[in-house]
Amino acid sequence: MEAGEEEYKMKERIAVVVIVSLASVAVASLLVACIYYCYISNKLSKRQNNPKRVEHVERGSSFSNIEVASEKGLQVFTFKQLHSATGGFGKSNVIGHGGFGLVYRGVLQDGRKVAVKLMDRAGKQGEEEFKVEVELLSRLHSPYLLALVGYCSDSNHKLLVYEFMANGGLQEHLYPINGSNTISSRLDWETRLRIALEAAKGLEYLHEHVSPPVIHRDFKSSNILLDKNFHAKVSDFGLAKLGSDNAGGHVSTRVLGTQGYVAPEYALTGRLTPKSDVYSYGVVLLELLTGRVPVDMKRAQGEGVLVSWALPQLTDRERVVEIMDPALEGQYSMKEVVQVAAIAAMCVQPEADYRPLMADVVQSLVPLVKHHRPTSKLGSCSSFHATQSPKA
Ligand SMILES: Nc1ncnc2c1ncn2[C@@H]1O[C@H](COP(=O)(O)OP(=O)(O)OP(=O)(O)O)[C@@H](O)[C@H]1O
Ligand SMILES: [Mg+2]
Repeated sequence: MEAGEEEYKMKERIAVVVIVSLASVAVASLLVACIYYCYISNKLSKRQNNPKRVEHVERGSSFSNIEVASEKGLQVFTFKQLHSATGGFGKSNVIGHGGFGLVYRGVLQDGRKVAVKLMDRAGKQGEEEFKVEVELLSRLHSPYLLALVGYCSDSNHKLLVYEFMANGGLQEHLYPINGSNTISSRLDWETRLRIALEAAKGLEYLHEHVSPPVIHRDFKSSNILLDKNFHAKVSDFGLAKLGSDNAGGHVSTRVLGTQGYVAPEYALTGRLTPKSDVYSYGVVLLELLTGRVPVDMKRAQGEGVLVSWALPQLTDRERVVEIMDPALEGQYSMKEVVQVAAIAAMCVQPEADYRPLMADVVQSLVPLVKHHRPTSKLGSCSSFHATQSPKA
């Protein structure tokens, strides 16, 4: 009897231990679940509040996106506002003419100077696509990229408003303007090196600080703009789709790229990678070294295409000075020229795989440039993650 009672008590104790253990495991699991829940919801709310958060951009939902874009500091202008900012789109305010139409100098009501691009094929432009492109552009921010201030998009007009760059396009400072022999200014060697570095940083940002990478597609000297102190910013990234229609038989430069700048594999197969931009960058570097346009068939035989003419001389220490812009004489050291020429030679390699990354180009140029803007601070650049490349 006593043995039976003893056994019963033992069983009771075991049951209590089992129940207590199970209960503690359950409580512990509940606690872990609670902590995990708190962690996840905290992380989510942090992401939602962070303006630099990684965003997924759906190309299809432009209207909600554009609202986000305007919240992010992009201004939405009426046509009337831009009409008055540019003096009624007066001829005297025209500062350029590119693949999309005329570019006007303008002053906003708050006194800010801007450049206004008036799309001359607005009617054909899908409103949705325009807005999505604007939305994408609004997310790319770097001191080395031209800032988009805002836009106007109504049923009849499509306009883009950019920060104003007082010294216009780089090409204007390298070659005679409009066939005349007058050049508005001659850039010295030091300035050219700094422009090369700043432009390289613009491309480096697009290729390596943005995910997925943005391929410029139309990198050229007229898309490097200079501010009043001749600091450079890259422009017209992300606009590829806007010019992709065929207007009156004229195929926009953006479909095929611009003659003389297009990487051979892109020209032949249409296959586009960041290395196609590296090739175009190499051509711009050659323009800075030589002061020559990429293609000029009026030049002596064998000198018409800049890359073909310069490439054999770039890696030849004895002959490399022969390709240098005569306006630069006495300003550079042989060591500098050899280094920059070597970078240019690598960038314009016909085989894309042999070309360097833009980050490598930046690294190679940094020691050559004496006075450049603070470099690694990409703090002002917001992260940009899209589900699809804006250039795709
Ligand atoms: N933000 C700006 N500030 C000052 N001038 C500008 C600005 N944007 C453009 N320009 C001027 O307008 C010219 C034409 O620019 P636009 O981008 O329309 O054509 P492009 O660069 O020659 O060709 P593409 O249409 O292929 O880019 C530039 O070379 C420059 O002189
Ligand atoms: Mg341009």
